[in-house]
Amino acid sequence: MCGIIGYIGKKEAQPILIKGLERLEYRGYDSLGICLQKNNKLHILKKKGRVEDFKRLPLLANIQGNLGIGHTRWATHGVPSQLNAHPHTDCHQNIAIVHNGIIENYQLLKNVLIKEGHKIVSQTDSEIIVHLIEKFYHGDLEEAVLKTVNLLEGTFGLAIMHKDKNNIIAVRRGSPLAIGIGRGEMFLASDVSAMLEHTRQVVYLKDNQMAVIRRNSFQIKNLDGQKAEKEIKMIKWNLDQIEKSGYKHFMEKEIFEQPETIKDLLRGKIKNNTIKLSLNIEPERIKRIIITACGTSWHAALVGKYFIEHFARIPVVVDYASEFRYRNPIINEGDLVVGISQSGETADTLEAIREAKKKGAATLGIINVVGSTISQAVDSGIFIHAGPEIGVASTKAFTAQLTSLLLFALYLAQGNNLKIEKALILELKQLPNQIKESLANHKEIKALAKQFYKSKGFFFLARGVNTPIALEGALKLKEISYIPAEGYPAGEMKHGPIALIDKDFPTLFLAPRSATLNKIISNMQEIKARKGETIIVTNDPKRLKRLSHSVVEVPLTSEWISPIINTMPVQLLAYYIADLKGCNIDKPRNLAKSVTVE
Ligand code: F6R
Repeated sequence: MCGIIGYIGKKEAQPILIKGLERLEYRGYDSLGICLQKNNKLHILKKKGRVEDFKRLPLLANIQGNLGIGHTRWATHGVPSQLNAHPHTDCHQNIAIVHNGIIENYQLLKNVLIKEGHKIVSQTDSEIIVHLIEKFYHGDLEEAVLKTVNLLEGTFGLAIMHKDKNNIIAVRRGSPLAIGIGRGEMFLASDVSAMLEHTRQVVYLKDNQMAVIRRNSFQIKNLDGQKAEKEIKMIKWNLDQIEKSGYKHFMEKEIFEQPETIKDLLRGKIKNNTIKLSLNIEPERIKRIIITACGTSWHAALVGKYFIEHFARIPVVVDYASEFRYRNPIINEGDLVVGISQSGETADTLEAIREAKKKGAATLGIINVVGSTISQAVDSGIFIHAGPEIGVASTKAFTAQLTSLLLFALYLAQGNNLKIEKALILELKQLPNQIKESLANHKEIKALAKQFYKSKGFFFLARGVNTPIALEGALKLKEISYIPAEGYPAGEMKHGPIALIDKDFPTLFLAPRSATLNKIISNMQEIKARKGETIIVTNDPKRLKRLSHSVVEVPLTSEWISPIINTMPVQLLAYYIADLKGCNIDKPRNLAKSVTVE
């Protein structure tokens, strides 16, 4: 998730690019850069940090021109730094590119380019693209770009410029790009918000299309060389809306992004029914796993325990990071300590990892932000690639953590020669579609929110691998709507909490088909007998309809996939209830996105 902007026209490009980058900053904000063309030379400025600091750089005065590209980065390969920031250039600073996406086969291509004498200076996957263009360039930039993209595996939105050419070339496969049409000027951006103040006429590039953009015209063709139609769209949104891509809140946007984030996460990780993770660990030497995390990430850890113990048969302990370091934890040979953190900056989790290392444990991080402090502290890492999460309440990072943990459990099982059902691998590949289907219930859940938003409290109950999702549902609801909510294993209710049940204290059950479905049905009866209202989320609606007026059907999956699917309705319910209550959803009171204090 990076931001791309481009301009070609009569105006000075620099302020247009910088304003565009400001609007795109939510897509990534660890480093940025611009490249402008003047007098047949490329002028580049890059910096680690935010646009705000970039604007104050005195060197900006030297960067001028009427044609340029810019980029704001969300690191995937290589830490956030000036060197890894885009634009990247070829060996002779004749060509510059900016890239959004991930090049899966970059290592292979990089090795070849280095052997051929190219000087690759960054740790990014993106830089190899510009060296490939350089390799194929003999006067025809379009041809060189076409030859290059044919070699790339993965996703890309690309903007390319040459010191001697009066055009910008854009290519799309998987990562969004749109051309903005002005009068005697053209724009290019990964998100129309970046050019909305200049034009409302845009053409969205489709996958596997390339555009050659000049000041007064542009051509689009498919990567197979066929000319493509230009479909001009008028943008009706105002600036404020479009920053959230038409969603009312970032949280809502991030909930609905989940089919895409999981698709991105899975890309390249399943080949020939085998899980591919490049980890610096030996599964056969792991005797015990300790997972440590906070808040929502801790709930992911609890699901991870079910996954790992079931598939890899390795015992797992889950610990609150804030408790772990202060209780003199016992670390034995063969222990692996896993830290889960969206931000990679949570002080409690960081300190827990440091404590584990001090005691001699091997460490692994499951992290969203590349280059974050925890990602640098661990021996090995899985990046969940969920992109920037702006809403304070974690949503898309949580399901990306769950999916990563399932992949990790299967990877460990593979390493220990344990059998993995082919059907499960097939289901994993279908996960983005299943999530989409689960989100399709949003209108129904909005109606339930209307019915229940005045409740004085809420229970979330489940059994087995879905129990942590009940805890997560309760956390989501309380943190953004301020309604007291508790999550429990359904069997625990009768040991005390059931005392709270009355007609204004509803219970949401997560009840997928499983060996314990009959047990959870008994728990539903116990609530009903005490006049408690129930909402049932299930993939077996026929069986459960008679037990509640409020049944939400989710797609039928294996029990091991169901926690990811069941997360959608609980996130949506919390979101719609908080919205009806008029709460500040993206910035709930007393909370911060990244908790860097203990
Ligand atoms: C709740 C939420 C928090 C975080 C917690 C850990 O919606 O977002 O509970 O999960 O503060 O943050 P990370 O994952 O960044 O370590």
